[in-house]
Amino acid sequence: MIEICFTLNGDSVSASVPPAQPATQLLREAFGLTGTKIGCGEGECGACTILVDGEAMNSCLLPAALLDGREVLTIEGLDAAEGMRHPVLRAFVDAGAVQCGFCTPGMIMRTVAFLREHPRPTDEQIARSIEGNLCRCTGYVKIQDAIRAAARES
Ligand code: FES
Ligand code: FES
Repeated sequence: MIEICFTLNGDSVSASVPPAQPATQLLREAFGLTGTKIGCGEGECGACTILVDGEAMNSCLLPAALLDGREVLTIEGLDAAEGMRHPVLRAFVDAGAVQCGFCTPGMIMRTVAFLREHPRPTDEQIARSIEGNLCRCTGYVKIQDAIRAAARES
């Protein structure tokens, strides 16, 4: 087991993890943060996207041990990090960019990181930003509308 300490949604936390345990499993099972979904478990669908030191990562491929010393943000911490309803979250709701919702936390976390780097994105940049996040329900149009609206608000 490996002892790790990291910041999780603004709180200092510690855990004891097996060397190969994925970060997704640690977040969901040890910390109860089930907003981070497990879809493929192989880095293909983006459902497990979290922010690590502000960078969007597929947590299913990330060994939990590598979270040591890092700052982790999941969908559960988004509003608190902003001090209000996060504009990206609000934009997804307002645009109706959610159907079953399974992909939504990953889409939102990916979008938060994307808009920090591209505050005024083109439509092509928006489309490419979610290439690694799969949605079986919405057809992506409303998701892209939501990202566009969030960019206008940010
Ligand atoms: S569950 Fe991580 S990319 Fe699909
Ligand atoms: S809303 Fe169902 S997978 Fe995207």
